[in-house]
Amino acid sequence: MTQIALVGCGLVGGSWALVFARAGLDVTLYDPSPASIDAAMEVARTSAAALAAEGLLNGQTPAQIMSRLKPASSLAEAVASADHIQESAPERLPIKQALYRDLAGLVKPDAVIASSTSGLPASSFTADIPGRERCVVAHPINPPHLIPLVEIIPAPWTDPSVVERTDALMRRIGQVPIRLSREVPGFVVNRLQGAMLAEAFRLVEDGVCSSTDIDAAVADGLGLRWFFMGPFETIDLNAQGGIADYCAKLGPMYYDLAKEQAAPRPWSDALVARVETERRERTSAPGLDARKSWRDRCLARLVAAKRAILHEET
Ligand SMILES: NC(=O)c1ccc[n+]([C@@H]2O[C@H](COP(=O)([O-])OP(=O)(O)OC[C@H]3O[C@@H](n4cnc5c(N)ncnc54)[C@H](O)[C@@H]3O)[C@@H](O)[C@H]2O)c1
Repeated sequence: MTQIALVGCGLVGGSWALVFARAGLDVTLYDPSPASIDAAMEVARTSAAALAAEGLLNGQTPAQIMSRLKPASSLAEAVASADHIQESAPERLPIKQALYRDLAGLVKPDAVIASSTSGLPASSFTADIPGRERCVVAHPINPPHLIPLVEIIPAPWTDPSVVERTDALMRRIGQVPIRLSREVPGFVVNRLQGAMLAEAFRLVEDGVCSSTDIDAAVADGLGLRWFFMGPFETIDLNAQGGIADYCAKLGPMYYDLAKEQAAPRPWSDALVARVETERRERTSAPGLDARKSWRDRCLARLVAAKRAILHEET
């Protein structure tokens, strides 16, 4: 039985609790703020109930899920017998560096330490610690109990077996890992998202369309296909002769577009204010939390629908 320890139980750590417990694994939770652990347990309780309602607990009850979550009162207690430590501490380099120095002396020799970091390469906070070869990044997309993708990124010194074990564990718990061969800024998902955001802000800044129009272009256009296929499969199906035909026909157009899009632009205060005004007209500031709950309810229903659709269609 694989024992899991969660270190840092804020937004992401709390969601990880549900992911591991849902897969039948015992989980210890540590956070220097006891209030964060209480909040994570509460989020797990309510989210487990929501998942049960959509049939996404694999036939288990929320009580079974909760019985696997054990708050720990110290970092040492949390990680002592853990095989996999999922670190979700704040995205601040000095915090991660100090935490990894502590972890190095507390974990089992064969334990894997995986970081949820959104953008710090593991090499920036594991360089000087003993046993650095067992550290890796396993970057989830928020919230991981609803979005299964995990990016696995090794530091130059990460042992390949650590990547293998992390990949296997992620698959076992129902996540979808992708492996990067090396550390690159933004990993893969944020590089893709960043490219789209850069173009979205550019189009708004140039007065081509509003931010609401951009959101519609994705939510009611591109995003419908992206719900179940990526950009390569999309273009493979968008030309009679498949992807090579598509690239022959449209490659030059995309190359011209890419040249036009190549010069980066900062997101100016005025531009951000304009987009924020448009966003607040759709969702007021006090309404943002309710909208996040709405997003998570929609995501749970989409995940359930996707499972059913793909089960019937394959
Ligand atoms: N929020 C997202 O959308 C998202 C998505 C993917 C990955 N991540 C990554 O996950 C990590 C956590 O992000 P979050 O959004 O959950 O942050 P958060 O602020 O919600 O939670 C961080 C938690 O870490 C705790 N903490 C503070 N110091 C600590 C220490 N020394 N050791 C252990 N825990 C400590 C805090 O008390 C807090 O509960 C970050 O590295 C972030 O980049 C975030």
